[in-house]
Amino acid sequence: MRDIFKKQSVDNYLKTDARLTKSLTARDLLALGIGAIIGTGIFILPGHEAAQHAGPAVSIAFLISGIVAGVVGMAYAEFSSAMPVAGSAYSFGSVIYGESVGWILGWALILEYFLSVSAQAVGFASYFNNNILGAIGIHLPKFLLAGPMEGGGINLSATLIVLIIAFVIAHGTSLSKKVENVAVVVKVTIIVLFIVVGAFYIKSSNYVPFYPQEFHSSPFGLGGLSTSAATVFFAFIGFDALASNSAETINPKKDVAKGIIGTVVIAIILYVAFSLVLTGVVNYKQLNVDDPAAFALKTIHLNMWNKLITIGALVGIFTALLTLFFGGSRLVYALGRDGLLPQKMGEVDMKYSVPRNAIIVATVVQAFFAGLVPLTQLTELINAGTLLAFIFISFGIIPLRRRKDIPNDGFKMPLYPVLPIFAGLASLYFLLMLPKSSKITVVIWLIIGVIVYFTYGLKHSKLQQKK
Ligand code: ALA
Repeated sequence: MRDIFKKQSVDNYLKTDARLTKSLTARDLLALGIGAIIGTGIFILPGHEAAQHAGPAVSIAFLISGIVAGVVGMAYAEFSSAMPVAGSAYSFGSVIYGESVGWILGWALILEYFLSVSAQAVGFASYFNNNILGAIGIHLPKFLLAGPMEGGGINLSATLIVLIIAFVIAHGTSLSKKVENVAVVVKVTIIVLFIVVGAFYIKSSNYVPFYPQEFHSSPFGLGGLSTSAATVFFAFIGFDALASNSAETINPKKDVAKGIIGTVVIAIILYVAFSLVLTGVVNYKQLNVDDPAAFALKTIHLNMWNKLITIGALVGIFTALLTLFFGGSRLVYALGRDGLLPQKMGEVDMKYSVPRNAIIVATVVQAFFAGLVPLTQLTELINAGTLLAFIFISFGIIPLRRRKDIPNDGFKMPLYPVLPIFAGLASLYFLLMLPKSSKITVVIWLIIGVIVYFTYGLKHSKLQQKK
């Protein structure tokens, strides 16, 4: 009898992952976390959100979103401490809830990772087209600047950057730790410089009103702020990827928690300060542009600084692109390896030791969405997929603690069961606050996932074939 709730055993995962080298420390995780988390989100969303949903109160939206991300992050840290295995939510879900739920979480994560790459590519293209091509006098026609939903044909630069990253990854060259660390320092330094320099140009009149009346929709007048907090949640996505590295961490019991919480705290400080400066320098009504930081610096005639922030954005987004592309293709590989997707996805190329077929699928999907779909729609979809996984992982702490066969003497979420329930409900609230169109798209994506599971995964899954 096949059982869709058949559970993976932790020992099985631990055994398979024992071949991975354990070399990561809390510091490495922090660098990886900042590398993945800070990307298009900070360089673009504060402008869009200030103009469309919250005004200068976008900084409060970042704060609220960051607190929720931090609490969900604790749930991920507890899971990583109890089960230091690869695969993050997919593996945790398969152990706690059973294979079908694990698959659905894996399916939601594919959406998160793939579309995040597309979103990063669109962000990269905005800064590249406006500030690099523009500076050397190349002005692409509208047809090549944006997809059909924005009155163009294809976002050429976004599509090309996906293909370039695919080429790098297919050749087995993941960024070396050294290069990644330098890139992280460059992007954080440039963000800090923006905050410090911009602070001298803040006009207090730009903060009045702080949360403009036009955004006071329901519930309780907090509609704009809530939608904004749900949307900027995108900027915190990436901390969950750290949980995927727990199998390669020397001391996962404490260090994954330090890595995740440290990453989220640093991100909150940078994002809140960045949004306060941005909306203090330029009135929120003018900020509906795709390169708000560079735009703000141009407005106050700091042209040198404008070039610097462009470099920071491009370097920052480039590293986030690599990390996310890597994560997504490895997830498809893992699903192929476990028989839930065609075996071909789980094959590893001999020459470069990379999952070539998984990379090809990832490239096609990511390049397609990068070329045709605008950033706002992409981020909303990504958030919906990710929040779904966050709900299961947060509430999952309760069954996890009941499992006597999974001992955990490492990190535990404080205030149990209040915090896990808070994290689950807050993620659910954010999911509900997203626009209807993205909720519908995610439901369609999940239905496809369920169909794939019943028509393919269930029949071919290696777990099901075990007695
Ligand atoms: N957190 C990532 C970003 O903001 C996805 O770009």
